Amino acid sequence: MKLNEIHILTNIGTLHTFAGGPRRGIKLADTSPILNGAIAWDHSGTILSVGTKDEVRKKFQSENILWHDAGGRIVTPGLVDSHSHSVNAGSRANEFVMRCQGMEYMDILQAGGGILNSADKTRLASAGELVEIGRENLRKSLSFGVTTIEIKSGYGLETEAELKMLRAAKTLARTQPVRIKSTFLGAHAIPREYKKKPDDYVALICNGMIPAVADEKLADFCDVFIEQGVFSVEQGKIILEAGLKYGLKPKVHCDEIIPIGGTEMCVDLGAVSVDHLIAITDKGIGKLAGSETVGCLLPGTSYFLKKPFAPCRKMIDAGCLLALATDNNPGSSRTENIQWILNVACLYYGLKPEEAFSMATINAAKAIGMDDTIGSLEVGKMADFVIWDTDDLNEIPYHHSVNHVKEIIIGGELVSNNDQN
Ligand code: NIG
Ligand code: FE
Repeated sequence: MKLNEIHILTNIGTLHTFAGGPRRGIKLADTSPILNGAIAWDHSGTILSVGTKDEVRKKFQSENILWHDAGGRIVTPGLVDSHSHSVNAGSRANEFVMRCQGMEYMDILQAGGGILNSADKTRLASAGELVEIGRENLRKSLSFGVTTIEIKSGYGLETEAELKMLRAAKTLARTQPVRIKSTFLGAHAIPREYKKKPDDYVALICNGMIPAVADEKLADFCDVFIEQGVFSVEQGKIILEAGLKYGLKPKVHCDEIIPIGGTEMCVDLGAVSVDHLIAITDKGIGKLAGSETVGCLLPGTSYFLKKPFAPCRKMIDAGCLLALATDNNPGSSRTENIQWILNVACLYYGLKPEEAFSMATINAAKAIGMDDTIGSLEVGKMADFVIWDTDDLNEIPYHHSVNHVKEIIIGGELVSNNDQN
């Protein structure tokens, strides 16, 4: 892009801007739409103007303008996948087959499979292999409209292998277009070698892994799988406080299966998000509602594990700030298709499509601490957006498991063109 060039995308049927910040309660259904919209951005990919096509046109009459035409289609901000495990090695299709025949997810983990199965494979993978696996996963995420993604470690469970995963994510951030935020999840499971001395593993995380991660600036957030039989609330607190000392904000798996007080503890620590919340209690909901912590809901996981769905409407009514994400991982939610996640959320949480989109754009940006720069289309933010092959937002969750993307723009550059549409 040349320095003085200005790009204007015009003839947008409805421009769903999601302007005005993260949303709660009834505001969740407001996409801040502009009919007959247009959007202008500069050579650096920063948005210069958003409005009706006449308003935007008037502003830049005499400049060096490159015009683009959306053909009456709708445009939204790029989708933000605020919870994924997109760097790991090895399929667990065999465990999927076992679960289809009735075996429980947590029983597979207790028997040494599950996360530990993926850790065996990830420890053996080379750094280059992990980058290439991650690249392929991100290519799929991007194809479905994801322009920013959060990626966790957590399949190394030993210092070098955890660092290898996070370095792979860092390489991907440099070498492919999707924006990435990284989360250190050394506390994803107790590795076999520490089964009889879990507190020693907690100490290794706090005194060995976290300082090493921080030293190389490999992560933005620190995560713990707080769950009965995995890490207790007390262990979680020790790890998250150690992370905070090194500038890693808590972003935590909790209340997924049995509520043990994870949400309450994490909100008190100022977590950027608490994720899953299938089993959140009324006390947890009250605590979350009174905070800036985002509840990140993962309906694809409920579906894939045949578990109940998080009480989303109850949380919306209570005033919680909520996001949606894929949780793409080899065990409990194997999908990059965030459009399908919108379908599951609409059906099983009882959401309006507008609510689901708010949760996967501006609120998801808040769930990774990026709501100042992405997640909505406003002057000064990044020109990250999707041109959808429809003039109606409802079509996207309604006609599920197909791809509605027409074009994807990140930082003002066309990065994906769906030839099928
Ligand atoms: O978010 N709950 C813990 N972690 C992941 C699953 C990881 C796996 O099974 O590999 C989750 O569901
Ligand atoms: Fe997860």
